[in-house]
Amino acid sequence: MSMAPTTFIHSGASRPSVAIIGGGICGLGIGWRLAAAGCRVDVFDKGEAGHEASWAAAGMLAAQVETEPGEDALLALNLESQAAWPAFATELQGVTGVDLGYRDEGTLVVAAHRDDAAELRNTYEFQCGLGLDLTWLTGGQARRMAPHLAPAVSAAVYSQKDHQVDNRQLVTALRKAFLDAGGSLHEHKTVDAIEVADNRARGVFVDGALHEADIVLLAAGAWSYDIDGLPSFARPPVRPLKGQVISLRMDPRAPIIDHVLWGPDIYIVPRRDGTLILGATVEDKGFDRDLTAGGIYRLLEAAWEILPQIEELPVKEMWVGFRPTSRDDAPILGPTPVEGLVVATGHHRNGVLLAPLTIDAVSAFVLDGDIRSAIQPFGIDRFYANASPRVAGVKE
Ligand code: GLY
Repeated sequence: MSMAPTTFIHSGASRPSVAIIGGGICGLGIGWRLAAAGCRVDVFDKGEAGHEASWAAAGMLAAQVETEPGEDALLALNLESQAAWPAFATELQGVTGVDLGYRDEGTLVVAAHRDDAAELRNTYEFQCGLGLDLTWLTGGQARRMAPHLAPAVSAAVYSQKDHQVDNRQLVTALRKAFLDAGGSLHEHKTVDAIEVADNRARGVFVDGALHEADIVLLAAGAWSYDIDGLPSFARPPVRPLKGQVISLRMDPRAPIIDHVLWGPDIYIVPRRDGTLILGATVEDKGFDRDLTAGGIYRLLEAAWEILPQIEELPVKEMWVGFRPTSRDDAPILGPTPVEGLVVATGHHRNGVLLAPLTIDAVSAFVLDGDIRSAIQPFGIDRFYANASPRVAGVKE
């Protein structure tokens, strides 16, 4: 990278100075921890902080019911972060006074019809075999928990431990925590490139000027692959996976559902304010921001099949988000072969669930150079077997 700097910003602090690319949940959260530990931290976001995947998410903390075969290491990571969520929420709410809308009624996965029950049973038995804490319910038992479930719902699985949080409130809280800790937030500031010299990250180029930093943290979600300046073996292989979402408005005094609900091709997430989120499509269409009639129709149809009372609810909002999805659907966390370049991206469907663990483990690495065992399987080196070994942060 040979862009000529026009401005240098030098750090006088003994803690490393950190430039974070991306002001989503990861960037703001890690920035909060680092600023609180005495680092000078600058977060750069190409738009309004936290208004991409962090805003588009539904906030499910579904480590158990989303588990699929072949994801053992990821399951361990998800469970560890899920277990960290209650204390993390209490801490963040205590620091900021922002209510995160944490709800612990649990999650119901339902078979929409008799035919779906066999598939649900298979998944249930697989997940129980992993030691997950799930309960099989008949259709009648499920309707006693959630009386507005459709009469055709023939069976369900209840997961008491799969909770939810209001991800937009989480963004609000992390932004406040970061700023209150002394962090600097630069919104509508696109990072044009990362400056790398002698295989070491030196800072980021913004508006043609070099913003120098000891550590550069790449946490740009689905955009993480597109930042210039990195050698190919340090570029996180992340692509956008589009999701369309619609929300409806319930009467918060008479909600039609209190649990998070999953059915074939749909999840339904009720907020305390009456918002009912129906999500989400999964589309490999790059950064296509179009809402489509077919996408929204299929969400509504799938939701109506298991919860017919949605028919009368007003539409509140519709949106598109981009999951940052890596080649193996798992996150990319920690150091890279470029010294001083750290990544926290690729969270796919689990960005909110993995927030506490990502924030704490990546901050710990930046501060101490320690790679916690939970994130060891999720380094960028798994994609680039021939790249030089990872090197630690700022230790000389
Ligand atoms: N975690 C839900 C989704 O990605 O749609």
